[in-house]
Formats: sequence, C-alpha cells, structure tokens
Amino acid sequence: MRHCIYPGTFDPITYGHLDVLARAAKLFEKVTVAVAESSGKAPLFTVAERIAMIQPSAAQYPHVTVTTFKGLLVEFCIAQKADAIIRGLRALSDFEFEFNMALMNRHLEPQVETLFVMPNEQFSYTSSTLVKQVAVYGGDVTHFVPPIVAEALKRAYPQPAR
Ligand code: COA
Repeated sequence: MRHCIYPGTFDPITYGHLDVLARAAKLFEKVTVAVAESSGKAPLFTVAERIAMIQPSAAQYPHVTVTTFKGLLVEFCIAQKADAIIRGLRALSDFEFEFNMALMNRHLEPQVETLFVMPNEQFSYTSSTLVKQVAVYGGDVTHFVPPIVAEALKRAYPQPAR
C-alpha cells in the first residue's frame, strides 16, 4: 500500500493546503497529514486546534488520517512505514527552501522520497501568515480558509487591530 505523509505546521490550514491534500489523496492509497508539534514558528493555534480544523476537510477521504508528530520528520515517516513525503510548490519562491529540506531529508533517510505537487495557481499567494494578517485587522478570509478556520480566527482576533 503506497503511503505518503503530508507534513506542515498548518497554522492554520488553508484551501491551498487542502488542494495539495486532494492531489495526495488521488495519488496514494494512504495519506497521513502530520501536524508539526514544534516547527520553530510559535504557532497561534495549539496542535489539537490545528488538527481539529483539518479533520472536517480530511473526513471526505476515507484513506486520509490526521495526526501530529515531533522530532525529525523522516523518523516519523520510517515509524509510519511511509514511502514518501508530499509537499506543495506554490511558486518559484518556495523552491529553494523545499529543495534544501528535501535534500536534507534524503541525506537523513535515503529511502524516504519527497514528491512535489503544484497547487492550483489561485492559491499561489496564499499563506497561513498572510491569512492571519488579514484576520487580525478584521478582513474577510473566507476565500482562503474553510469556515471552521474563519470562525477560529474570529475568536482568536475578536477586535480588529488598529
Ligand atoms: N497553500 C497555501 N499555503 C501553503 C501551501 C499551499 N499549498 N504550502 C505551503 N504553504 C504555506 C503555509 O501557509 C506556510 O505559511 P507561513 O510560513 O506563512 O506559515 C508555509 O507555506 C509553509 O508552511 P507549511 O506547509 O505548513 O509547512 P512548514 O514549512 O511550516 O512545515 C515542516 C515544515 C514541519 C515540514 C518541517 O519544519 C519539518 O519537517 N519539521 C520537523 C523537523 C525536521 O525533520 N526538520 C528537518 C527537515 S530538513
């Protein structure tokens, strides 16, 4: 059974991430969305909150599960008996970071492949940071994130910043 891990901070998940997940779900018989417990980013949402925001979207795929991991991603992949890591490349600007991360992961565990998919170009400028920046000033984020995330952002930023 071909199994891939889709790792990320997902703080919070966006429609861009979900586009990558849809592609992974088409290609693999098993997909694990792996929410990084500590990725050095000081996330706004706890791991449990991030998982809870992914689960309703992931539920449409019976072969997708959502979980968390800590430590090295490749060690998690080996423990899960996964064949590959899948990541999205939104634009050329993603390439250098993703390329270096894939090469480092290959150095650490040569048997774990990294595959890249291109999300729909309508998401090329979406990022979790930008979505949070729009939300903090009370802007409309419903074009970028599922309703459960938009609601959570409203609760996190009840008063628009000035
Ligand atoms: N659509 C929209 N946005 C996307 C996206 C897509 N398809 N793909 C990535 N992004 C954005 C995210 O919103 C996020 O934006 P932000 O920086 O503003 O928060 C950014 O691109 C990347 O986030 P994400 O996809 O969530 O992944 P990440 O880069 O935060 O995750 C890990 C990195 C967790 C995979 C990596 O740090 C890791 O593996 N850590 C474990 C430790 C380890 O093994 N380290 C060694 C690796 S060399």
